[in-house]
Amino acid sequence: MTKEKIRKNVREGYAKVALQQRSCCGPSSSCCGSAETVDTIAQKVGYSDEDLAASPEGANLGLGCGNPVAIASLAPGETVLDLGAGPGFDCFLAARRVGETGKVIGVDMTPEMLTRARETALKGNIRNVEFRLGEIEHLPVADNSVDVILSNCVINLSPDKPQVFHEAFRVLKHGGRLMISDTVLLKPLPEFLQQSVAAYVGCVSGAMRKQEYIDTVEAAGFKDVHIVKETPFFLDCILNDPMAQAIIGDTRSSDEMLKEIEGSLASIQITGIK
Ligand SMILES: C[S@@+](CC[C@H](N)C(=O)[O-])C[C@H]1O[C@@H](n2cnc3c(N)ncnc32)[C@H](O)[C@@H]1O
Repeated sequence: MTKEKIRKNVREGYAKVALQQRSCCGPSSSCCGSAETVDTIAQKVGYSDEDLAASPEGANLGLGCGNPVAIASLAPGETVLDLGAGPGFDCFLAARRVGETGKVIGVDMTPEMLTRARETALKGNIRNVEFRLGEIEHLPVADNSVDVILSNCVINLSPDKPQVFHEAFRVLKHGGRLMISDTVLLKPLPEFLQQSVAAYVGCVSGAMRKQEYIDTVEAAGFKDVHIVKETPFFLDCILNDPMAQAIIGDTRSSDEMLKEIEGSLASIQITGIK
């Protein structure tokens, strides 16, 4: 698949998510059953009751695989950038932390996600958050202008991950922090999943090997790069997830074949400093 074809598939996939509400990426603890509410999913990946109570209605679609806001130790007055902001869940939480003197910018390439996020901001009269249409490989953000970069289950979807980290490095101020959650591979996926579009959109087959991920962040110039938390995926959870069901349909795979995924994927929270 070409890079453009990948972006088109991802954009179309998340446009549907924005309009329909369904879960996608997530570690084992985040996806055990479609009956779980998005709030329960969020709690399992590390969001507090207070975070959930503070989040505006409709901002949490259960799309994350960690809680980058929690590890970001945001301070009042800081400028925060969220790569692949989606419906804006992390942006709105960050906005509370940075306060009126701070600012949060959410970038996403799917117009339907931006519309949803902007409507939520408008409804809640949240003025220190701005959503920009753009690709994370070509950020619509000035050089050396951001204190903290967040991203939650997005960079695995990029067809050019080194470019994403180069852009992140460019826009961060000297001393700025990168604080992201993402899916990584612990071992290679079976061929049938590597070829599946649904598995790519579902944050599975675009994932990099864990060490390659760390190396890519360091190669962009970041220092003190380390994994703060790692959570494995388990098969029973994968099989209950709606996005995984799409993958099963796409690959015509049996449950037996999907057992090959177990142990291959993990969610990590990773940090680095410019
Ligand atoms: C799994 S969702 C995560 C959304 C959000 N971070 C959250 O936790 O709710 C992935 C989001 O990343 C966006 N996205 C994927 N690839 C992107 C790219 N290359 N540039 C910009 N946005 C992208 C999608 O449109 C989608 O909204």
